[in-house]
Amino acid sequence: MTSNPNNIYTTFDKIKDRNEKELYLKQHGKVIWFTGLSGSGKTTLASLLEKRLFELNYFCQILDGDNVRSGINKNLNFTDEDRLENIRRVAEVSKLFMNCGIILICAFISPTNEIRDLVRNIVGEDDFLEVFVNTPIEVCEQRDPKGLYKKARKGEIKNFTGVSSPFEMPDNPFIEIENTNPDMDETIRSMLTKILPEIRFDPYKFIK
Ligand code: ADX
Repeated sequence: MTSNPNNIYTTFDKIKDRNEKELYLKQHGKVIWFTGLSGSGKTTLASLLEKRLFELNYFCQILDGDNVRSGINKNLNFTDEDRLENIRRVAEVSKLFMNCGIILICAFISPTNEIRDLVRNIVGEDDFLEVFVNTPIEVCEQRDPKGLYKKARKGEIKNFTGVSSPFEMPDNPFIEIENTNPDMDETIRSMLTKILPEIRFDPYKFIK
């Protein structure tokens, strides 16, 4: 049991450990983290990836900005402080799932290096697979599936990423998708060549 000055006593050491759960699920838990502008295609790619991984018998959970912000994070908005808190909570939830051997597919703008480094630190470097959906803002704005760029340009939405709030490109993502290829299946196939070795069940890992 670990104590701290706030009288919190965690009992993580009494819970069945990650190895046992990964053995049960026959997969390795990881956090696959999509970052990119609104309208870049994160959610679409995340859903296609989940579908494909499910067909290959991998057990995943998607966490997505719009969904999470309508539930657990409904009290947060888009100031720098609230975005950091949004992502901090998501990273902590992801870590809990991952410690059950589950593969997380997270789709959040997560616009700055500071925010993505926070996830990397919470989840752990080895388990954090950063996927940058590098769709140019002009393309995102042209698509504008939710009409948000239009509203942001008119000043009806404050702190809108890419318009009135910054987006910093990640320096060294695990995967970068230049979302110019309309063949999504091809994009998913090429992603899988990098992701499968990370999540594939390795029984030797469990031999002590
Ligand atoms: S993040 O910056 O905190 O990572 P998150 O991914 O959760 O953002 O939420 C982004 C979604 O919220 C967008 O896809 C868009 O639909 C919606 N949204 C509403 N207001 C804004 C805003 N000011 N900036 C960006 N996205 C916004």
